Amino acid sequence: MSLDTQQLLKVLTSDRAVSGSELARRFGVTRAAIWKQIEVLRSLGVPVEAKAGDGYRLGAALDLLDPSTILASMPEYARSRVGALDLHWQIDSTNSELMRQAEGPDFAVCIAELQTSGRGRRGRNWHMPLTGGLALSLRKRFDSSMTALAGLSLVAGIALARALEDCGFDGIGLKWPNDVQVDRRKLAGILVELGGDALGPCHAVIGIGINLRLDNEIAQHIDQPWIDLAGLAKDALPTRNRLAARLLVRLIEALDQFTESGFPSFADVFAQYDVLRGQQVRISIANRHRDGMAIGIDAGGALRVRADDGEFSVDSGEVSVRARAENGA
Ligand code: BTN
Repeated sequence: MSLDTQQLLKVLTSDRAVSGSELARRFGVTRAAIWKQIEVLRSLGVPVEAKAGDGYRLGAALDLLDPSTILASMPEYARSRVGALDLHWQIDSTNSELMRQAEGPDFAVCIAELQTSGRGRRGRNWHMPLTGGLALSLRKRFDSSMTALAGLSLVAGIALARALEDCGFDGIGLKWPNDVQVDRRKLAGILVELGGDALGPCHAVIGIGINLRLDNEIAQHIDQPWIDLAGLAKDALPTRNRLAARLLVRLIEALDQFTESGFPSFADVFAQYDVLRGQQVRISIANRHRDGMAIGIDAGGALRVRADDGEFSVDSGEVSVRARAENGA
């Protein structure tokens, strides 16, 4: 039998050590092959302890994802809407996977323990240690044109903020267009991609990445202040299955409302989470910058900015909050 890290992980527990020779016998490989896979697990951040004469055991139980646990903890009205819930041990990107599937049920969901090419906005990479984050993508079909989907990523941000609140976290803010922050540090990100016919019908893949417990190896790839749920939790962290379940419930609710009433019905709620409002900001699009004060969101989800020469709105771009000294304040 060949051996991969996932199979090995299924056999290792935190309760009882398993010897290298027992593992080798079980998988029909050499002890050296077992040791090699143990090293791969460790490089993924899995705490595998080894004791001479005893064997291998996990330093702590792993919080792995399980679709049936996720579905079982969702209320029936939301569970019945989930068209598919596929868990991958390892995949390039959950967003890419759903974008590749041209056809499929509405509310198709893809989750993964590991992403080898997790993607962030603006061509960035998204890094997540094994069980140290949540990577979830959901595809929803729309009869409307793509232009009618303006504001969709803000709606996903609201759903994510509510899901985090359901799990006991507070102080959640949204930085236009779709970063979730606490104390100005990034906790989660959203990547919305569109496919199908620009004039409709079309579909959106909403990809969400949440930092649960980042390690130094991952943190060194992040080019902005960040935070994880472990740094925020007052009590025990929610399981990743619970987090995924609340996220799906909130996404389904929000997407139903969005389909029925559009972004304007979310504008007031977004304002409650808006961390940019009243801040001096710099909007960067390609190599051009414009400065001004963020003054909220318009009915189409664009960011409104008041500059010295008047007001303008942007529907894409990178926003940075300008330090007080830069404004002479
Ligand atoms: C960002 O803030 O830059 C967006 C990050 C989005 C990351 C998630 S993880 C699940 C889904 N799959 C991906 O490849 N990206 C999104």
